[in-house]
Amino acid sequence: MIKLGINIDHIATIRQQRKEGVPSLVQAALICEEAGADGITVHLREDRRHIQDQDIFDLMGALKTRLNLEMAPSDEILAIALKAKPASVCLVPEKRQELTTEGGLDAAGQKRKLARMTEAFKKEGIKVSVFIEPEFSQVEACAEIGAYSIEIHTGKYANLFRNFGESSRQFKEELGKILNASNRAIAKGLILNAGHGLDCANVKKIAQIPQMNEFNIGFSVVARAVFVGLEKAVREMKALLCEAPL
Ligand code: PXP
Repeated sequence: MIKLGINIDHIATIRQQRKEGVPSLVQAALICEEAGADGITVHLREDRRHIQDQDIFDLMGALKTRLNLEMAPSDEILAIALKAKPASVCLVPEKRQELTTEGGLDAAGQKRKLARMTEAFKKEGIKVSVFIEPEFSQVEACAEIGAYSIEIHTGKYANLFRNFGESSRQFKEELGKILNASNRAIAKGLILNAGHGLDCANVKKIAQIPQMNEFNIGFSVVARAVFVGLEKAVREMKALLCEAPL
C-alpha cells in the first residue's frame, strides 16, 4: 500500500497569522499520525513563512512515525537539518516570491553540490530524496548523486487534471511522462515518491503507478480539514490509498 506523508506547513501558516502558538503543530502532527499518516512532512523555508526552526526539534521529540524535512539545498538549512536529524530530507527548489514550490529541482544542473550534501546526510543516517520534474535527465542525476529516492513533482499533472480533465491530451501526455520517469527511477534503484497538488479527485491515476512508495500531501488535506476536521481529512485520503491496487 502507498504510504501517506502529510505536509502540515499550512497548519503553521495559520499559526503564523497571530504568532500565539495555536494551532499547535505538534498536536496537528499527532492527529495525522492517529488518523493513519505514515509520516509528517514540513518545509523549512528560507523566509520562515510558516515552519520555524524550533518546530523541527519539537516534532522530532514528539513524532511516533518519522519526519521528512523539505529544504532548499542551502548551507544554512543543511546545518539545521544535520542537527535535527530527521529520518529524511527532500531537496526542493525555492524562490522567495512563490506561493508554493513551483517546480522540481534542477538536479542535473548542480550534481556536484547535491552529491556533497547527500554525502553529509548519509553520514548522519538521513535519507535523501530529490523533488524533480518527470524527466529522464533529472532521474539519472538523482541516481548519480547517490539519492535514496525521488519525489516526482505532480503539480503540473494536478493543474491539467483540474483545467482540462483526465481525458485531455495534455493530461495524458503529462501522466505518460510521469510513468516513464517512474520506470526509469525504479530501473536505477531509486525509491519512488510523488507529491504536490494531489487531492482526493486526482490521486487515483498516480496511485496506480507500479512501485509507487509514498505521497506527500498537504494543501488539499488541510483545506478539507477546515470542514471535516484534520483526523477525518487524513482518514479520507488514507482510505483512497488503501483502495488503490498494488
Ligand atoms: N512535496 C513537496 C516537495 C512540496 O514542496 C510540497 C508543497 O510544500 C508538497 C509535496 C505538498 O504539496 P501540496 O501542499 O500541494 O499537497
